[in-house]
Amino acid sequence: MSTIPAPIDATQTPAWKALQEHHDRLVEEGISLKGWFAADPERVEKLTFEAGDLHIDLSRDLITDETVRLLCDLGRAVGVEERRDAMFSGAHINTTEDRAVLHTALRRPKEQAGTLIVDGQDVVADVHEVLDRMYAFADKVRSGAWRGVSGKKIEHVVSVGIGGSDLGPVMVYEALKPYADAGIDCRYISNIDPNDAAEKLAGLDPETTLVIIVSKTFTTLETLTNAREVRTWMLDALERAGAIDGSAESRAEAIRKHFVAVSTALDLVEEFGIDPENAFGFWNWVGGRYSVDSAVGLSLIVALGPERFQEFLGGFRAIDEYFQKTPLEENVVALMGLMNVWYVNFFGAESHAVLPYNQYLHRFPAYLQQLTMESNGKGVRWDGTPVTSATGEIFWGEPGTNGQHAFYQLIHQGTRMVPADFIAFVNTPHPVRDGEQDVHELFLGNFLAQTKALAFGKTADEVRAEGTPEEIVPARVFTGNRPTTSIFGDTLTPFALGELIALYEHITFVQGTVWGIDSYDQWGVELGKQLAKQITPAFHDDAALTEQDPATQALIRYYRAHR
Ligand code: F6P
Repeated sequence: MSTIPAPIDATQTPAWKALQEHHDRLVEEGISLKGWFAADPERVEKLTFEAGDLHIDLSRDLITDETVRLLCDLGRAVGVEERRDAMFSGAHINTTEDRAVLHTALRRPKEQAGTLIVDGQDVVADVHEVLDRMYAFADKVRSGAWRGVSGKKIEHVVSVGIGGSDLGPVMVYEALKPYADAGIDCRYISNIDPNDAAEKLAGLDPETTLVIIVSKTFTTLETLTNAREVRTWMLDALERAGAIDGSAESRAEAIRKHFVAVSTALDLVEEFGIDPENAFGFWNWVGGRYSVDSAVGLSLIVALGPERFQEFLGGFRAIDEYFQKTPLEENVVALMGLMNVWYVNFFGAESHAVLPYNQYLHRFPAYLQQLTMESNGKGVRWDGTPVTSATGEIFWGEPGTNGQHAFYQLIHQGTRMVPADFIAFVNTPHPVRDGEQDVHELFLGNFLAQTKALAFGKTADEVRAEGTPEEIVPARVFTGNRPTTSIFGDTLTPFALGELIALYEHITFVQGTVWGIDSYDQWGVELGKQLAKQITPAFHDDAALTEQDPATQALIRYYRAHR
């Protein structure tokens, strides 16, 4: 039986009622960022926060001093602080799986060993035992002490995984490419669509390739299918190259030199044929989408080196500590979570854009989609009762400036509210000039222009003053008052990226807490997995075909006719 108290229904709290009245009053008076800035010269100062070394500006969000106060009342009413402390201390807040939620322990310093004993496990000691093994392994691969079966140095890593065992590593690898200093490139295979493996393996020399199979459960259909395919590709190619002779011993030796695994199910790893020496574990208190800073990040340690990975963990830790210790009113991490509730439940926002002004972060929105939507896309609360409000907005985005030429039209002038987070960094590893122009400044100018246009818009009179014909004026008006948060940092370092990830992990937690959701299970992905197993035989088996619903049958008949 779970000892976690039942969720408090946020919608029944006085704070919710007060927020509703406050919202209605703001709408009635007319929301005007221009007016709010004019009325309060300290607005920027009051609504700008430093979390770790991230500089976060909420001044162009649709909030006033009173909104902040009421949102914090709501956070307190539903017990955000208590649940946060319960999470950090290892309580089983993942009630449907009866598990602790301890991704924050993955970045605790070694000196804290012995201070967090959960379910009989010295969590921090275990974390560092695996980290140290990974660092030693990565050092060997990076230095060339670890060699392939034919004695060649490893130059490529192929990581096979999906969901949380893929999106985090890919995103971070892409984001931190400038720090990959060992001449080892990584490729990530996730999709069971054979096209993915075909493209990622193309041109690879198996003699210089190390494969990492990443799967928390080591039962995921896509990952195991791809793992077998990569194993066959590797062994056949090594044999063709004369690197192995095809005997069982030489194949086993090749697997030992070219395959490692990351999983919580080390028995299944061994069954697959991977030497337990080459397996790196983690624990069921790390959710897949919260696991990039566990052994799941092994490819990153190999590509970037242990030192950079430690800096990465340091960034997470900085935000964890900030989130834990900062009072709600000044806690921008908590405020961003509460503000998302404000937009979803009081303004009816259905989606949230994440717009990095940094090409290296091009997979960050995809990563956040799993983090946020697999966590909070739920209709049932952690005690099994239905949710009492809308939950789980749709996260999406693309880097600027590309998005400006694609979907920003809707954010500027469409009929939906799309709160947007802009993420940018002052410095770039590639300073370039176009004549006199610093190109990075031109780029950042766009970030500042977009957030300004969204906040303050353009009135009909301003449009007319440009000599626009009257009939076109309405089409060229920008209403403004479209909320944005600006997250500005010095440089996209491993530390800063760790901070960014932890920031969104905790935002997700805060929203889940207000909605009463267990943000750490993902039962919604199970039905499709079960059905795929049941349907697949119907491509060839008539008896299986007749068991399907009419729509599925018709599609399979189309498949049969065209194959
Ligand atoms: O299908 C969803 C999911 O369970 C994710 O939550 C998880 O990250 C992914 O599959 C991969 O699972 P595993 O790491 O066990 O292969």
